[in-house]
Amino acid sequence: MRLVMVGGSLRAASFNTRLLKHLAQELEARGHEVSAFAGEALRLPLYEDGLAPAPGVMILQGALLEAQGLVIVSPEYNAGIPGHLKNAVDWLSTLKPSPWPGLPVLLCAASPGAFGGARGLMAWRATLANMGALALPEAITVPHADQQLDAVGAPTEARTAAMVPKILDGFLALTAKLRQQ
Ligand SMILES: Cc1cc2nc3c(=O)[nH]c(=O)nc-3n(C[C@H](O)[C@H](O)[C@H](O)COP(=O)(O)O)c2cc1C
Repeated sequence: MRLVMVGGSLRAASFNTRLLKHLAQELEARGHEVSAFAGEALRLPLYEDGLAPAPGVMILQGALLEAQGLVIVSPEYNAGIPGHLKNAVDWLSTLKPSPWPGLPVLLCAASPGAFGGARGLMAWRATLANMGALALPEAITVPHADQQLDAVGAPTEARTAAMVPKILDGFLALTAKLRQQ
């Protein structure tokens, strides 16, 4: 399948970007084609009524319209969605066609905190539901990411590491059912 990944922060050392890269490799190892958008690719102009969408927005829209599913790997800022990611989502929701309705989404997060960014994912769920996207009920969360992500973004804590393939495979199975012709 064709999959898009979006996430990370604008920090060069982003834990979420590191996790995103690891998950991209896991998906590619399962034979899927991954287009990843992180870091500078998500430094988009703030949404403004009447402003033409930047090329980066159009590229993201095109990739999502061709994809069977989306994996979001999001930092948690104040129990919510970081501004640069919400801005990208809002831009996309204004375009025609919008890529969101019916799009299967896997939510993932990494945080140095004890909850692994899980509270921010609740905010993501409300936004995705509003746009008609289909978020998988399960999510990948990596708590204590400053200690529990290795240099290439693989979770090192045993329970989290065991959860990753299960949730990825569950997402892929559901996406195939929903979207593969
Ligand atoms: C404005 C701001 C708000 C934050 N709020 C939370 C929060 O609510 N929960 C949390 O676990 N971490 C929070 N953090 C800490 C981030 O999880 C931490 O900076 C993390 O490294 C960000 O992800 P990144 O490594 O991908 O940049 C916050 C960080 C910033 C800058």
